Amino acid sequence: MALLIATTFSTAQSSESGFLNPTMRISMMTKVKIEKLQKLDQETLERLIEIYMNAYEGMREYGGEGESYAKRYLRWCWSKAKDGFFVAKIGDKIVGFIVCDDDWYSRYEGRTVGAIHEFAVDKSYQGHGIGRKLMEKCLEYLGGKDIELWVGEKNERAKRFYEEYGFREVGKHGIWVRMVRRKR
Ligand SMILES: CC(C)(COP(=O)(O)OP(=O)(O)OC[C@H]1O[C@@H](n2cnc3c(N)ncnc32)[C@H](O)[C@@H]1OP(=O)(O)O)[C@@H](O)C(=O)NCCC(=O)NCCS
Repeated sequence: MALLIATTFSTAQSSESGFLNPTMRISMMTKVKIEKLQKLDQETLERLIEIYMNAYEGMREYGGEGESYAKRYLRWCWSKAKDGFFVAKIGDKIVGFIVCDDDWYSRYEGRTVGAIHEFAVDKSYQGHGIGRKLMEKCLEYLGGKDIELWVGEKNERAKRFYEEYGFREVGKHGIWVRMVRRKR
């Protein structure tokens, strides 16, 4: 979801096949903790870049453009939304993150709303409920605000995921679709 920077600035240990059976999945989920990121030191930044790069594998037009870009982008996310930068951890290992901004001026809405600037789970850990845990934390944090995000037009999986949480497509800009979840 790298549009924002352009416009604003602008291995689970899965089985060998990469598939977790239900028992392994439950055991992984009990170990996943969602935490606010405390500091963006070099080691953490490198791990987040690694996740950002591999999460978007096969979808380079929408993210993971390159490591130096990712570094600038993630630092921007950290400076813009420290209090809403949540990570999913298994033990000490970060396996995913979501960046939630409670003070985003949307020029499309003409007012300040909540925003999700980035959302990614390590490819090896995708499909096991970690994204859901991160999204729930984000919705708890952004509470009663309207929330805006941009998603790649062909990123069907992410679009379906957002729809389940009440986001609706409200506009389009190039290859990007703008989705908004109106407060209830
Ligand atoms: C979008 C993303 C963050 C979701 O994280 P995740 O940990 O894979 O999500 P979950 O495991 O919680 O799955 C949530 C739902 O996604 C769908 N899903 C998960 N894995 C899937 C797969 N392999 N194929 C199709 N749908 C899948 C399912 O609907 C799933 O619901 P379920 O729990 O009923 O099975 C993650 O897939 C990702 O990093 N994608 C690449 C980056 C990206 O697109 N970010 C969003 C940009 S705006």
